[in-house]
Amino acid sequence: MNAPESLISASVLREMAALARQTPPGALVEVGVYRGGSAMWLSELAHEQMRELYLFDTFTGIPYKTHPDDAHNVGDFSDGLTHEQAIALFPEAFVVAGVFPNSAVGLNLDHVAFAHLDVDQYKSYCDAIAFLYSRMIDGGIMWFDDYDCLPGAKHAVDERLGSPRIAPCGKRYWRF
Ligand SMILES: C[S@@+](CC[C@H](N)C(=O)[O-])C[C@H]1O[C@@H](n2cnc3c(N)ncnc32)[C@H](O)[C@@H]1O
Repeated sequence: MNAPESLISASVLREMAALARQTPPGALVEVGVYRGGSAMWLSELAHEQMRELYLFDTFTGIPYKTHPDDAHNVGDFSDGLTHEQAIALFPEAFVVAGVFPNSAVGLNLDHVAFAHLDVDQYKSYCDAIAFLYSRMIDGGIMWFDDYDCLPGAKHAVDERLGSPRIAPCGKRYWRF
């Protein structure tokens, strides 16, 4: 199996992990695993700080194109890890396949300290924010990988949360 790869630069991932590290005790969540590159950073942090890590992806690529601002087509990123490969790469994590948040129903996910959202499209961002909002702990952080580069993601975050904070690397996040 190949090593995890990321579409995100190492400097951005380092900053994301540094912010996640400072959040109060609670679970780490990623929605949008693809080839596991960003998940690897969260996995190392979860191991070090003995936190639960939940990794969500369809593992079949983008599930929706519903909004005029959406830049991707259904099925884009279907060349990522399979569910089985992700389980093998991240044996200490809960690796959940399916369309989020339907895939999370029934999980004991009510103490989220850090959520990395990297799902590209408007509806996926709206649904993830809506599901996780009441599950974030005080001081928890939601990090939006696509706010600065994909209009569908920006639209969803602005509409559902308001104007997020900006990290030194230019990525946006929301502190609860
Ligand atoms: C740009 S990739 C993630 C990149 C990855 N974080 C990295 O480090 O390179 C976006 C991923 O989001 C997933 N995705 C998008 N919407 C989703 C949803 N509603 N539920 C589950 N996975 C979703 C896609 O399957 C795809 O693998």
